[in-house]
Amino acid sequence: MKIAQKTYVMLGVIIDVTTLILLLLVLISPENLVVAEGLLIFDIVMFVTFLLSIKRSLDPLKTMNDAIDRIKNGIYGERIEFSSKDEMGDLAKSINSLSSTIQRKEEEAKKVEIAKDEFLAMITHELKTPLVPIQGYSDILLGEHLGPLNKNQKERIEVIKSSASSLLQLISDLLDAQKMELGQLRVKKSRHNLRQTAENTMVVMQPLAAGESISLNQNIKRDLYANYDDDRITQVITNLVKNALKATSAKTGMIEVSAAEGPDEVTVSVADNGKGIPADSKEKIFKKFYQVDTSSTRESSGSGLGLSICKGIVEAHGGRIWVESEIEKGSTFYFTLPKNNKG
Ligand SMILES: Nc1ncnc2c1ncn2[C@@H]1O[C@H](COP(=O)(O)OP(=O)(O)OP(=O)(O)O)[C@@H](O)[C@H]1O
Ligand SMILES: [Mg+2]
Repeated sequence: MKIAQKTYVMLGVIIDVTTLILLLLVLISPENLVVAEGLLIFDIVMFVTFLLSIKRSLDPLKTMNDAIDRIKNGIYGERIEFSSKDEMGDLAKSINSLSSTIQRKEEEAKKVEIAKDEFLAMITHELKTPLVPIQGYSDILLGEHLGPLNKNQKERIEVIKSSASSLLQLISDLLDAQKMELGQLRVKKSRHNLRQTAENTMVVMQPLAAGESISLNQNIKRDLYANYDDDRITQVITNLVKNALKATSAKTGMIEVSAAEGPDEVTVSVADNGKGIPADSKEKIFKKFYQVDTSSTRESSGSGLGLSICKGIVEAHGGRIWVESEIEKGSTFYFTLPKNNKG
């Protein structure tokens, strides 16, 4: 700014002095008109130069303003190609170093985040290993291969076994959630029949429903083929049915798994006549760890990971998942799978 300021002062003084001389000349004698005209032209040229130099001195300001806007929008690391020995030059240097510092910090934060996720993925994987013998030996003991057990002993070992499988489920869910976070959730797509996949899920879930006298039906009447990862889609339907079981009441509960075929995609739905979901939670339930009822007295267990994993799996197939629900009437979860989804 120092140099620019000097230029403006100099130009201003020249314009003022020449205007003064011009006025004097005209006042002293009208014969000096030719000289006065010359001075007037000189004055105009100086004035235009004055305006142009002001404009030019504002150009770097605009560049810097644009650069700050880009930083505000999260574009870091860009350099302003401007150098001068005045305050403008200093400002450009400061913006450049601010931008590169933010970029460096952001990269560091990303690296820490990835390292944290990888560590968690590794730990959860390691946690699974000791659970295998706990489950295995529980089975051996319950099968009385190592000697007979009394009623009390059997009950306690049943508790050990079911706690171990709950823990295993939680660890698997955490592992899946971590994989999703790291973008490592792989789906192996091949051609499968949705009717068959739903049927297989039913076989596993029927005893749970029957235990509470909840009616669980599969209403896919014909073969419906699409490209998907059978294990992962089984996991999605299982999660949705498990949620429906938790939301419905014993004896009156009704759950139905259906599917509809569109031109480009198939839509699978899991409907229940359970307690329903409040309107303001319909989006949130697909987020990690979100549960509608977090009070300590809530009957249903779970960690709030199921639906976020369903969403991750469905989206990895190029599909969508959503819910329609009415409080005290029930909920229907829908998810789509593109029909011509190769790879
Ligand atoms: N069919 C449903 N009816 C009513 N509420 C539901 C239904 N499905 C899900 N919800 C609500 O959405 C929440 C999130 O579901 P999600 O499956 O992600 O977690 P969770 O079932 O609580 O635990 P997890 O599945 O990890 O064992 C549930 O806690 C419940 O409040
Ligand atoms: Mg669930």
